Amino acid sequence: MSLTVAPLHPLLGAEISGIDLRRRIENSELAEFIQAMDEHAVCVVRHETPLTNEQHITFSMALGPIERRSVLKIAGADAMRIPHHEIIDQSNISADDKIFQDGDRTLGFKRANRLWHTDMSFHPVRATYSALSAHEVPPGGADTEFTDMRAAYDALPQETKKRISTLSAEHSYWYSRVKGGGPEPTAEERNSRPPAQHKLVHVHPTSNRRALYLASHASHIVGWPVQEGRNLLEELMEHATQPQFVFRHRWRVGDVVIWDNLATMHRATPFEDTRHRRDMRRTTCREREVLN
Ligand code: OGA
Ligand code: MN
Repeated sequence: MSLTVAPLHPLLGAEISGIDLRRRIENSELAEFIQAMDEHAVCVVRHETPLTNEQHITFSMALGPIERRSVLKIAGADAMRIPHHEIIDQSNISADDKIFQDGDRTLGFKRANRLWHTDMSFHPVRATYSALSAHEVPPGGADTEFTDMRAAYDALPQETKKRISTLSAEHSYWYSRVKGGGPEPTAEERNSRPPAQHKLVHVHPTSNRRALYLASHASHIVGWPVQEGRNLLEELMEHATQPQFVFRHRWRVGDVVIWDNLATMHRATPFEDTRHRRDMRRTTCREREVLN
């Protein structure tokens, strides 16, 4: 073992040391890293300085097919602050390097990251790993929380497991944006991200454990009356986000946190986002290559 894996919570989250994601990763290190991901679902790797965009992309490409270009269209927001199609800008900073102000469409949509979710569940090809890299952290930290969807599934009553075993939910990006306080999407915005359907319970591919697959993107249960489905989704979300399943990460500049979207949900926590800069950048891997 060349890596050191130090659990940060009884269920999920571990800090990995003995690896530097700014350098080329050997195959043996990568295998150990993936093993730690399978077990802990969220891994924290700390660095003295943030990864460059190129280092971030190179590391992520070793983890699976990387998402290259989001087809997401937000009205009035065409300029890219970060000139890489592989990087999702999760900052509160505009392309002209200013903090977004209240009423800004992009900020309005980004604030919905404060709802529990898993990345890309609104797409037919789900996300596997996300890697979020901290470039600037506001005072107070603006933590990210993660919840363990394998443990949450295990803890469900037997009859609930049976009741949900064959159900699917429809996931829509716009459903969670509006729920999170964002503006009503335009027709063009909606068309750039249509909804997708996924089973509520799936077998996590590498650990072979069952997991709940939920997110605030989930708008209803396929084939059920809308309100009845929403009630069930709410009940399951409440169950899965109980404090005993949740690990909270306090950010430092240079941290990279990698999470398994098929075994967890996550959410951002509020901070004074029209006052302080928070520069976070994400890459995302997918179940298979997607040509957008
Ligand atoms: C994400 C995300 C939460 C945060 O990058 O996918 O939801 O705390 N981030 O920025
Ligand atoms: Mn996210």
